[in-house]
Formats: sequence, structure tokens, C-alpha cells
Amino acid sequence: MSEGRSCPLAYRYNPETLCSEPESVHADVLYVIGGLYGNLCALDEIERMAQEEESQGRSVALVFNGDFNWFNASDSLFREVNERVLKHRVSLGNVDYELANPNDGAGCGCAYPDFVDQGVVERSNLMMERLQEVASRHPDIQSRLTDLPRYRCLIFGGLKILVLHGDPESLAGWGLAYEAFAEGNASELDDWFGQCDADVITCTHTCLPVLWSGQAAGRPRAVANNGASGMGNLQSDPAGLVTRLALEAPDRPIIGAIEHLGLHISLLPVAFDLQAWLTMFDQLWPAGSPAAISYRNRLSSGTSLNSADVRFPRQ
Ligand SMILES: [Fe+2]
Repeated sequence: MSEGRSCPLAYRYNPETLCSEPESVHADVLYVIGGLYGNLCALDEIERMAQEEESQGRSVALVFNGDFNWFNASDSLFREVNERVLKHRVSLGNVDYELANPNDGAGCGCAYPDFVDQGVVERSNLMMERLQEVASRHPDIQSRLTDLPRYRCLIFGGLKILVLHGDPESLAGWGLAYEAFAEGNASELDDWFGQCDADVITCTHTCLPVLWSGQAAGRPRAVANNGASGMGNLQSDPAGLVTRLALEAPDRPIIGAIEHLGLHISLLPVAFDLQAWLTMFDQLWPAGSPAAISYRNRLSSGTSLNSADVRFPRQ
């Protein structure tokens, strides 16, 4: 397999062991933040949203489940994003993994499926090379990234919440992608929930959001994929998304929600300062650069999805 298409062996894990070491989270609200992609303005906004909840008397725990690095290809931005993210609970994404432990031949480590254009894959590999060069000048951060887990199992609201990056078999798996739900992945969901026995899986990596609830392995389960917190997810909408979990519903606009075994699981928009972010992005990745070709349009205009598309199974 070619660079950027393959799945390195170190990305593999066993679904049966994902929830073997659960940790309790003592907070009223949990934000699961996947795919920040180095967007400092989105990080500012997420911290502001958390402070707003706290000012209303709710404690908030932030959990970053990987790919908090990607566009932050300057020394100052690399350092600031990592130092701020690493103050919280964190697990790795493939991008962060490749910065901490460069894999020969993995490219960006995205394990892109066939439906992703080869040009995107090649440009992602070039972006990873540039980011690895930046990371190599920050060995203290690389070493902190190396120590991070690839997944976490959290006990929150009396439920077992599995937080991972790709899917229950691989850090860069696409089995919980929007496209997998659209095609139908009931038997994989049955297998994976049966093996890990989580009540909820929260994930990211695949860049489009999903909210699914239903029966799997004999009881009610749910999946929330936040798409990207640092890029737009919906049509004509540059806002990122985070997954919010709490016993009470949020008191701000959401783009979709599930009520699952007493827990409210919502996708919250991250309406960051787009102009400020595009100014930073354009300085790092000018027109014609790999990131500008692959991502600038999405940063300014979002995707082709509507909020109703995000909910599975289709109603
Ligand atoms: Fe990823």
C-alpha cells in the first residue's frame, strides 16, 4: 500500500481491551474534541464555551481525542496549541502519533479509503513532512505526545464512554465514518459494542459528523462522531463541532442530539473567529500550498451536509 493509504501496525488495537481500564470523570459536562487540526481560534472558542458553562455553575471536562495538530506548521503555533491541549485529558490521533513516532511509509497515517482522491492523499503526506520538521524542533512536546494513550474509557453519568480516534480496531479506522453509517455498518457495530461493551463511543478522524443510537449486541448504544472541531462540517457553515455529554440538555443552539440512557449527547457548534483563523492559515499555507488546495474552501464554506443528514439511522 502507498503512503497515506496504509494503516501502520502500531495503530491496531483489540476492541475487547478498549474498556478494560475505565477512569471516572468528575464533571457535570464533558466536551469530546476531535480534529482541532491546529486551529488556535477554535481552541479559544472551545475554552470560552467551557467558561460560559462554568459561569452558569456547571463544571466542564475537556477531552481531546486526537488530531489536535495539522495546520499549525510554525514553531509558535505548534507550541501554543500543544501546550494548551496537553493541560487536559488527551488521546492520540494519527497525526499526533506520526509527530511523536514517525512511521516509515505511513505518510500522514490517515489510512485514506478509496473514495478519497489521490491528490488529497499526496498533499496530506507533504503537509505531514512539513509538520514533522516543525515537531522535531520541540522534543519536549514530542516526548509528551509519545506518552499519550490511543484511546480512553471514561465513566461519566453512570455510563461507559469509550473515547477514541478512528474506530474500535484502528487509530485511523474508517468504520465509524459518516460514509460507513450511510452504507450500513450494523454488523460491525454489533461486533464492536459486544467486544468492548461501551454504552457510548465518541470518535473523530473521518471529518464528517454522525449521531447514531440504536440496539447493538443486545442493548441500547450510541455513537457520536464530532467530525472536526477545527473545520466546518455542514453546508455553508464554517463552524467546527464538539460532542457534548451531560445529564442536562445544553441551553445553546445545537445541530443534533441524542438522549441515551439519561445522557444528553449533542453536537455543539464551535463558532470561532473565521477571519482571524483564515489570516493565520493563509500566512502558513498560502494559495497553491498543499493545505490551501485541500482545505481552504472547506474552512471558509463547510461541506455539503445538512444538519438532518447527521442523524442515523435515517428516520
Ligand atoms: Fe485522524
